[in-house]
Amino acid sequence: MSSKRLYFDLLRMGLCLCIVFRYFPMETDTDGVRFTHQCDYDTRELCPRCFPEPLDCDFFANHIVIDGTNPLNLLNRYNKHGVTYALLDGIRQVVVKNLNQMGLVEELRAALCEEHKIERSDCQLGDGEEFVLALRKRILDKEAFGGSVICPPEDERTLVRFVQQFTGPELLKLVLMKTSVQPIMLEILARMKFPVPKLIFQGGFTIVESYEGDSLAYFYDSPFRLRLEIANQIINAIYRLTEGDSHFRFYLTDIQPDNIAVKMLPGGDVKVTFVDVDNVVILNSESNKLAADKGRHVHERIDCEGCFAYVQQDLCSHKHSDLNMFAVCQLLHENVNGNREHGFLHSTGDHPEQKNLRELLTHCVYCKPAECHNRYELLTQIQEIIFELQYRYYQEELFK
Ligand SMILES: Nc1ncnc2c1ncn2[C@@H]1O[C@H](COP(=O)(O)OP(=O)(O)O)[C@@H](O)[C@H]1O
Ligand SMILES: [Mg+2]
Repeated sequence: MSSKRLYFDLLRMGLCLCIVFRYFPMETDTDGVRFTHQCDYDTRELCPRCFPEPLDCDFFANHIVIDGTNPLNLLNRYNKHGVTYALLDGIRQVVVKNLNQMGLVEELRAALCEEHKIERSDCQLGDGEEFVLALRKRILDKEAFGGSVICPPEDERTLVRFVQQFTGPELLKLVLMKTSVQPIMLEILARMKFPVPKLIFQGGFTIVESYEGDSLAYFYDSPFRLRLEIANQIINAIYRLTEGDSHFRFYLTDIQPDNIAVKMLPGGDVKVTFVDVDNVVILNSESNKLAADKGRHVHERIDCEGCFAYVQQDLCSHKHSDLNMFAVCQLLHENVNGNREHGFLHSTGDHPEQKNLRELLTHCVYCKPAECHNRYELLTQIQEIIFELQYRYYQEELFK
């Protein structure tokens, strides 16, 4: 790109930002009142039977203050994310997430009401047997779009068994499974000691969770030493996910820089957290519907411009898949378009250990299933190299 073109592009971008900040209404209601209104609507109108117990919607108005200094709040109000950065009791940084940003609950209600031939004006999401069965069918329908995926497909017992593990009304749990499974996953993943934000409060379809720092994307140009520690923590997290929880295994299908947050702690330590666990395939690995001969699935990289591709059928028919481990290797090695300069561990260096690290990552991403080494072991070797490199950095610092 010529420098003239770059100059004009920057100028145009600057102008756009000026217009955005000049004419978009500024955040006026900086307290959490709008979340209280939203919560009242969710619990009284949208789905009263999802919330049969009295719920303190005033929590938002009384404890939440929107962080007016955060420019992301202004932009987030007008994008699809439904994320607001705020302070809890004036001290603790939190994130408020609207789980129903796209009106998915209303859509679900409309579809179910139509199915039951109930007039729209007096149709409610009900917890009667008929409604619950219809809802379960929708969650299990492998052709249906949206929501979490339960495997093996069309296995009602798996779904019932999965939701039974959580407290709360069944209707709410089923609605969440079909629209935004985040609160359920936060509970189960925290139990597995997989690093997710802490769920602080749920009021209707709005949740408050701990703020976990900047997106991983901000750290792509950080010193290699810091990136090594972040990579190490991402690998540790993936080990936990691989172990699963009782009979269930979880495949996160949207492991990408935006969905991982990194917080710098006092003393130079870092903490890695997976902040978006909405896209998940939940597998009952004990189900007798899984073919006994289909033990382990080895994922093969699928070319896909700007996306992460996988075959759902593979995950749903095997007891194990190494998809999560593949996804981490890919994140460290390259971006989703296969560009290695944009992998998280880019610019590794030319030391023999660093070359070795690159080779292991390349194998992990590009091997053909029949020739792939076990990806769990590959990640263990990658981690060993990370430790060696970290030790080297430590020594150099010591003897400098
Ligand atoms: N707990 C959190 N702490 C810090 N940042 C977060 C947190 N949750 C979300 N974010 C930021 O908000 C963005 C959007 O949130 P996310 O849950 O990923 O929504 P979406 O489903 O729309 O992608 C994330 O990419 C991340 O940068
Ligand atoms: Mg996201």
